[in-house]
Amino acid sequence: MLDIQQGSRAAFEEALHLLATKTLEDEAGLGIRFPYVTKPDGSWDTMLASVSAGYQEDAWSHGNWFCGFWIGLLLISYLHTGNEEALELARERMHLVAPRAKDPNTHDIGFIFLSSAIPAFHITGDRFYAEVALEAAQQLRARLVRTDLGSYISSWGPHNDIRGRRSSAIDTMANLPLLYWAAAQAKDDSFLVAGELHARMTEHAFIRSDLSTYHAVEYDLPSGVRGRGYTFQGYGDESFWSRGQGWAILGYAETARATGSLRHLKLAHRLADRFLDALGDATSAPWDFDDPAGKDATLDTAASAIVANALLQMADLEPDMELAEQRHGQAVKILSDLCRDHLSRNSAERGFLRHGCYSKPHNIGPDAAVLFGDYYFAEALLKVLKPGAFRPIAERLTATEV
Ligand code: GLY
Repeated sequence: MLDIQQGSRAAFEEALHLLATKTLEDEAGLGIRFPYVTKPDGSWDTMLASVSAGYQEDAWSHGNWFCGFWIGLLLISYLHTGNEEALELARERMHLVAPRAKDPNTHDIGFIFLSSAIPAFHITGDRFYAEVALEAAQQLRARLVRTDLGSYISSWGPHNDIRGRRSSAIDTMANLPLLYWAAAQAKDDSFLVAGELHARMTEHAFIRSDLSTYHAVEYDLPSGVRGRGYTFQGYGDESFWSRGQGWAILGYAETARATGSLRHLKLAHRLADRFLDALGDATSAPWDFDDPAGKDATLDTAASAIVANALLQMADLEPDMELAEQRHGQAVKILSDLCRDHLSRNSAERGFLRHGCYSKPHNIGPDAAVLFGDYYFAEALLKVLKPGAFRPIAERLTATEV
């Protein structure tokens, strides 16, 4: 196990204690709703878990893709404190979220169940959670679109709607672990194949020559020829959207874990180096590295948290121990910077991590606590403190694997 200094350990313990306190305090006032971003007054904006993704005329609405993260935070609170109430609340909330396992409209189904049912199954062994996650994995696998050049998982919309069917987003990379988990659980490699095919097509269509990534692309069907690359949440179609890069790094690390392939791990390293070079000495990524405001740009701490999470995964997988230690150290540095400069310690201000940015172009949580940022941050802290508690530790790849 790679170790950390006592000072960082104490800071991470304190941060998770704050998370557990705030999460249980918030539970009391949420009813059946789920938080997603904080409002300018510091309170949570909330949504029902049942809000599905869908088109309203031509506008796409992502629905509630955050609800699983709240369950994940309850589980992390339980693992950190041992408070059984948090585990019980997670179970109650899972019943509110479980119907979304049938949602045929969104790739975000991965986020919803990866952060909730899968760790709940790991922690409790209760098959209820596994059955829900398997149902969700079938929906994600069903989104696979075959083309002459390869296959990909479409991001949005009912399968028969061409607007979503020809579109793919970088976020899908971070949804793939739902498929990888299902492959192992159901002993059905078709889940694994679907995920790896998507990862391979994304490698060619999304990664620019400078190793930054597109947010979304459109494919011509059935040829699979890539059309335009564009953005919804970044600064511009050609800009370096920091969170998208985080999703890509995480997704390739997870693909390496599932397939045992060093090729995917090497790509994760190259994408991570690009992110870390752009980050430099900053204590958080900006929302978009190409925002002309430069050092004054709005931050996205969630992007940093996602990358820290991915770097920890890469440290577990990397066969070269010197590089593994370097990645672990980089993750701990990011987490320590976030703990020191960006924790939300003010009790009037809800959420855990300040200065996340959900969608600046849409003015939704442009400078806020965002639930997925809180989740990836907390998961990474717990992974450092209690490896294997939330999900199994990845097996280190061997240098000869391909
Ligand atoms: N749907 C993932 C994101 O907004 O980054």
